[in-house]
Amino acid sequence: MFEITVNNRVIDAEEGETILSALTRVGIRVPTLCHLPDLPPMGACRICIVEVEGAEGDGLVPSCSYPVAEGMRIFTNSRKVINARRTLLELLLSNHPDDCLYCQKSRDCRLRKLAEEYGVRERAPGKRFREKLRDLTGASVVRDASKCILCGKCVRVCEEIQKVCAIGFVGRAGRTVVAPVFHQSMNVSSCVGCGQCTLVCPTGALVEHSSLDSVTAAVGDPEKCVVIQHSPAVVLAVAEEFGLKPGMDVPGLLNAALRRIGFRKVFNSAFATDIAIQERSKELVERLKSGTNLPLIVACSSAVPFIEEFYPDFIPNLSTVRSAQSILASLIRTRFAEAEGIPPDRIFSVASAPCTARKSEAAHAVPGGEAALDAVLTSRELLRLIRLYGIDFNSLIPEPADIPFAVRSTAGKLADVSGGTAEAILRTTHRLLSGRELKSMKIESVRGLDPLKETTIRVGDAEIGVVVVSGLGTA
Ligand code: SF4
Ligand code: SF4
Ligand code: FES
Repeated sequence: MFEITVNNRVIDAEEGETILSALTRVGIRVPTLCHLPDLPPMGACRICIVEVEGAEGDGLVPSCSYPVAEGMRIFTNSRKVINARRTLLELLLSNHPDDCLYCQKSRDCRLRKLAEEYGVRERAPGKRFREKLRDLTGASVVRDASKCILCGKCVRVCEEIQKVCAIGFVGRAGRTVVAPVFHQSMNVSSCVGCGQCTLVCPTGALVEHSSLDSVTAAVGDPEKCVVIQHSPAVVLAVAEEFGLKPGMDVPGLLNAALRRIGFRKVFNSAFATDIAIQERSKELVERLKSGTNLPLIVACSSAVPFIEEFYPDFIPNLSTVRSAQSILASLIRTRFAEAEGIPPDRIFSVASAPCTARKSEAAHAVPGGEAALDAVLTSRELLRLIRLYGIDFNSLIPEPADIPFAVRSTAGKLADVSGGTAEAILRTTHRLLSGRELKSMKIESVRGLDPLKETTIRVGDAEIGVVVVSGLGTA
């Protein structure tokens, strides 16, 4: 540990760390566009430059990759630094489309915010914006190469964290774009729809494929019976966004909000999670007895295509039980439609889920089939919908979900947290095999945020091992 001086203030720094890391630790903010905290620096955008006294050339260095040195004197906001950052932003914006008003990322666009902060108010003379280069073929992700600033974050997340490598830099020099290999469209690439690239993209170049228009159109159509299922993870997102306090009946408030928007019926998808857990436990018992296709792999909506694409040898190990979202979609179009006397094709069935991969999963259902969903809204889209309809949570009184898909066990609620599904399956499997409940209903060793958790449970003479994996890269 040694001292460095930043904007005339002395701070501690550690040997080997970057300037950005030392500054971030003490709360000094430096703008970044290509930096990903968990990966080595890429140095693509240069927006993180700071001035280092005595450094070579003009003294400007990229803070995300430049190491600290004892006694270093750094200026993060000198006139030289601010002018250089503004010039970089002007260059990035020189051919950037200017449809910010209509851009899906508008509210969260990092580039737009920086342009505003640094006072970039007009396009460099003689420059023209690029024409739209949109690829709408992906069920989960929309790519618009005209808005890409080639920061590389998406490529690195897809390759180094998710280990999918669905997208990369394609073309040369001024024609370089981020795209699937050979400029293929997203729907024929190896993209598994996880949406992680959309979360790191600083512009509107990669966004989730929005279903809001079709949902709002259906809600306004008197011929349609619009129903929605929501999961516990979505309820959490709503609570966070609207600052709803612990102890409040957030699922009840969400039910009320969705009815005000115009959804005819609001169902709890945890009802179907309970069914899925029962079925998967039975499947595990059968496989344990027959000794075939073990280990049983219960995978999420992005892990299923990941295994199919990259580890086809494990396809027989995948659980044959459909996801809770798909099970409830079937029940809605069959049992519910019959009970209510509604023709199935008049039902507009919506699922609200935490992850974009659920959109890809829904896109694989047979169109018009009993498991068909008409739209999947991510938590972010659902929050936008709630804002669009001007819902004020403070004025709502909690309401129950609609019968018959309203009840759930604690297992149904647990399933949306890491290790929750494994815990629920282990409990049920123990009961099916031994006729008794587990001594403790909590299996702590599969809970928590550790990306890899392992445990065993004993049933009579047998031992059942379980591994819980979070993240495709860990898998
Ligand atoms: S959605 Fe996931 S798999 Fe597809 S390109 Fe983005 S990060 Fe890669
Ligand atoms: S698509 Fe987005 S994240 Fe990927 S390189 Fe372009 S701007 Fe960066
Ligand atoms: S954040 Fe440092 S070069 Fe992009």
